[in-house]
Amino acid sequence: MAKDRVFIFDTTLRDGEQTPGASLTTKEKIKIALQLEHLGVDIIEAGFPRTSPGDLEAVREVSKNVKTPIICGLARSTKRDIDDVYEALKKAKRARVHVFLATSSIHRKYKLKKAKSEILASSIEAVKYARKKFGDVEFSPEDASRTEPDFLAQVVEAVIKAGAGTVNIPDTVGYSVPQEFGGIIKRLKEDVSNIDKAVISVHCHNDLGLGVSNSLAAVFNGARQVECTINGLGERAGNAALEEVIMALKMRKDLYGDLKTGIKTKELYKTSKLVSKLTGIAVQPNKAIIGLNAFSHESGIHQDGVLKKRVTYEIIRPQDVGFKGSNIVLGKLSGRHAFSAKLKELGYDLEQSELDQAFLRFKTLADKKKKIFDEDLATIVENELATIPEEYKLIDFSVTSGKKIKPTASVEIKKGREKLVATASGDGPIDACFKTIDKAIGVKGKLADYKVNAVTSGKDALGEASVKIKFKDGIVIGRGSSTDVIEASVLAYVNAINHLALRNKKLKKKTK
Ligand code: KIV
Ligand code: ZN
Repeated sequence: MAKDRVFIFDTTLRDGEQTPGASLTTKEKIKIALQLEHLGVDIIEAGFPRTSPGDLEAVREVSKNVKTPIICGLARSTKRDIDDVYEALKKAKRARVHVFLATSSIHRKYKLKKAKSEILASSIEAVKYARKKFGDVEFSPEDASRTEPDFLAQVVEAVIKAGAGTVNIPDTVGYSVPQEFGGIIKRLKEDVSNIDKAVISVHCHNDLGLGVSNSLAAVFNGARQVECTINGLGERAGNAALEEVIMALKMRKDLYGDLKTGIKTKELYKTSKLVSKLTGIAVQPNKAIIGLNAFSHESGIHQDGVLKKRVTYEIIRPQDVGFKGSNIVLGKLSGRHAFSAKLKELGYDLEQSELDQAFLRFKTLADKKKKIFDEDLATIVENELATIPEEYKLIDFSVTSGKKIKPTASVEIKKGREKLVATASGDGPIDACFKTIDKAIGVKGKLADYKVNAVTSGKDALGEASVKIKFKDGIVIGRGSSTDVIEASVLAYVNAINHLALRNKKLKKKTK
C-alpha cells in the first residue's frame, strides 16, 4: 500500500447514528451511503448488525446498493456478532468486519471483569474466527488511549498475527490530547514488530473538542486510516468531523506532506446538508468548513480585506468545498425554477415530492415574510420536510393567554384516521400547548431543554424552536419552525413525539 495514501473510513451510519436524537431509516441510510460513495470515502461502516434486525437489514441494503467503497459491519468479539455481520454482508462486493474488544484497565475491571490474558486470548480468537469468513478484518482495542502502552502493543501485535489487516486505535471517550495520542501511534510503530503488515487506523471522539486534532496528530505519526463522520456526528460529543480532517490535510500539506485521499472536496457541503436533513441534527452556523457562517465576513475590516485580496481573511475557497452561496434573495414572486435552483446552490438535492412540499412551505412563508434568505431556506428544508414518518400530525391548535387569565390551549392531532383532541392549562402559553399535546396523545414529557432562535433578523423573521424532552422511554429532540414562535414550538414538540414513536418501533423490532 502506498505510504502517502490515507484511507477515509466513514462511520456516520454507525457511530454517527448513535448521536443522541438521531435515527435513520434504511432508505435514508442508503441515500447517505450513495452520497458517501460519490464523495469518495474508502470504507463505509454501515451499522452494527447484532444490535437489531433493523440494523442488519440496513447494512445488507447499503451493501447491495453501494459499489465502490468497502462496506463494513461492527461486531463485538463474539461468534454471533461476527456471524451477523457475515449474514448482512453476504452480497457486498467488498466486505469488512470490524471486531472490537475493550483493553483498558477501566473497562477490564468494571465492564468486562476479565484479566489481560483473557482479553488477549479473546481478541486473537475473534480475529481468527473473523478471518475464516472475511478476507478483510479490522480490530479495535476499545478505549485504546487509556490502555497500558505495553499491553496495547501486545494486543496489536497478536491481532495482526491472527490476521487483522487494519488495527484501529480508538480514543473511545475523547480523553487524549494531540501530543499524547500522536505518541501512542509513534510508539506502536516502534514497538510492534509486525506493524508494517497492517494499516494503522484511528477513531477519535470529541469529548474535549480534540477529535480532529488527535486524528491529525495520529496521521502525522503514521496512521493511514481515519475514522470520522460527516458533521462530526457520533456518540456523546461526536467523532472527528470528516470535512475538517480532509480540509486540514489538504490545506496544510506543508506540515503533513502530500497525503492523498479519495475525497472530492467539492461534495463536502452537499453531503453535510444531506446528513443534517436526514438525521434532523442541525449544523451549528459557526461550524468549521460547512457552517453557514464559515465563509461570511461580518466586520468591515474583514470585508474590506477580502475584497482587496481574498487570502487576507479566507483560507479556503468556498467553491472548493461545494459552497456556492450567492446573493439571490427569494421572495413572494419567485417561481419554482428559481426556488429549485437556489436549493441546489445551497447543496440540497431533493426528490420531486420533497421539492413540491418545500415549495408549498416556501410560498406560505413568502406570504408572511418579504425576503427569504438562505438561512430561511435551509430551515425549511431541514425542519419542515418530514424526514421521519409522521405518526402524529398536527392539524390545528389555539391558545389563549394574558395577564389575568390562565393560559389554556386546545389541539387537534391526527394519528392515521384517528382524531386526537384535548384542552389543558399550563404555566404559560407554551407550557399549556405542550401539556395539551401530552394529554391528546397520552404521554407525559418533561421538558429538558427548549430554545427558540430567530433564523434571520426582522419582525417577520422565521423562528426555529428546538425541544429536548424526557419521556419515560428516553430522551428525544424535536424541531419546528414558523414565523409564529408558539406554532414553531408546538411543531417541535410533535416532531419530538414522532421521534419517540419511531424509536419505540425500532426497539420493539429489536426485542422480537
Ligand atoms: O469509540 C469507540 O471505541 C468505537 C469502537 C467500536 C471502535 O466506536
Ligand atoms: Zn466510537
